[in-house]
Amino acid sequence: MTEHKDPLIWKLPDLRGSWRATQLLEKARSHPDRELVVDLSKVGKVFPNGAVPFAANLAFLRSTSDQKITVLLHESDTRLERIDDALTIGNYVRGDGDTLTHSVWRYESETDAQKLANMYMEALTEQVQCEEGVIDAINWCLYEVMDNVFSHSRAGAGYVMMQLHKVARLCVIAVADTGIGIQRSLAETRAAPVETLRDASSAIEFSLQQGATSKGGAHQGNGLYGLRRAAEVNGGVLNVTSGWGRWSFRDGKVTRKTDKQRILPDIENHQSTLVDWQLDCSRKVRIDEALGTSPINDFLESIEDDEGIHRISVNDIEESLGSRKLGADIRTRLENYLKAGAQFVLLDFKNVGVVSSSFADEVIAKLAENMGELEFRRRVFVDNASVTNRALIERAISLRLAESESP
Ligand SMILES: Nc1ncnc2c1ncn2[C@@H]1O[C@H](COP(=O)(O)OP(=O)(O)O)[C@@H](O)[C@H]1O
Ligand SMILES: [Mg+2]
Repeated sequence: MTEHKDPLIWKLPDLRGSWRATQLLEKARSHPDRELVVDLSKVGKVFPNGAVPFAANLAFLRSTSDQKITVLLHESDTRLERIDDALTIGNYVRGDGDTLTHSVWRYESETDAQKLANMYMEALTEQVQCEEGVIDAINWCLYEVMDNVFSHSRAGAGYVMMQLHKVARLCVIAVADTGIGIQRSLAETRAAPVETLRDASSAIEFSLQQGATSKGGAHQGNGLYGLRRAAEVNGGVLNVTSGWGRWSFRDGKVTRKTDKQRILPDIENHQSTLVDWQLDCSRKVRIDEALGTSPINDFLESIEDDEGIHRISVNDIEESLGSRKLGADIRTRLENYLKAGAQFVLLDFKNVGVVSSSFADEVIAKLAENMGELEFRRRVFVDNASVTNRALIERAISLRLAESESP
């Protein structure tokens, strides 16, 4: 006969900071014979560094123990819908209530990591005004950190969330796995001096140095170093939590801590790693400069034609353009290309029948208004446009400029 025991109910006020994930392990293990009810229905703030390791630990518990764990959500709170059932490239339906940003994702292959990083960069490009180099830097760092899960952690999957704060112009990201952890990964190949590797937070500090790697070959050991440099140059925030160690950079200062009381998924093979950071999109940061290497500008290269001109097909854009909101996204995209260092951009009207009023006004005319007419004429060019389209564009511009001049 099985004895019936009341479930243990745990009500959380927020999901901010990695310690909520640690608490989850603590609660579950304090009463392994009882059902654990994780009540998230009253959760206030949700940050990536709270939600992502929480989702990773929850998945770890589900796959390693029989304990019943029930998650309660507030029905109208869509932010946490995916905490127990992360979004994946396979199950994501755009526009079906699933939000690309602000949700927890799970990725299980390098291809999926690459696809997800690309989707994140699309969202960033359309939603936040970014200064020179910011998009490239975030893209570069994101992929390096996501890829480390496959290169080093031995976990089958990584968990990630990106949050965009449009008004504050902040990009906040967290990546977590429940793999072997940084200290063990470095120790296995004796990549650092023994004294350094004996302490969890000094092992993390070592991994953040230039050229620090546990592997040879294609591994340059510059992934985490580049991220640290980007956070330094940009005045951002970076935290790396792995095993008992924690390393943080904030307000220009580094702090380190080793806490041997901290409960881990499993001390042997699952010490887990969380890398979370925040970059200020209003402050320029060049990843090539941060790394001290030759310039790369993948973001701009993606729209470069054979002659090295930054050419944007209006036809491709028009196909996705229905509402005025999208118009604003495309304008932000153009502004980001210009900020990323394109001397000028060329709007190619090839195959465009009649330009939509929303494109002419929301994209082109507002761009002219934001940039000022002189700067606009110098840096935005129209190519392959019919006489009608040229006239429609000019009309939209002059209407908007006249409007903004009148008091
Ligand atoms: N998610 C992770 N799990 C375990 N170890 C990691 C993880 N991320 C980084 N590391 C450790 O930190 C080292 C430095 O990482 P990185 O700077 O990306 O260089 P690289 O990947 O080229 O080795 C890695 O070699 C590995 O030992
Ligand atoms: Mg790496």
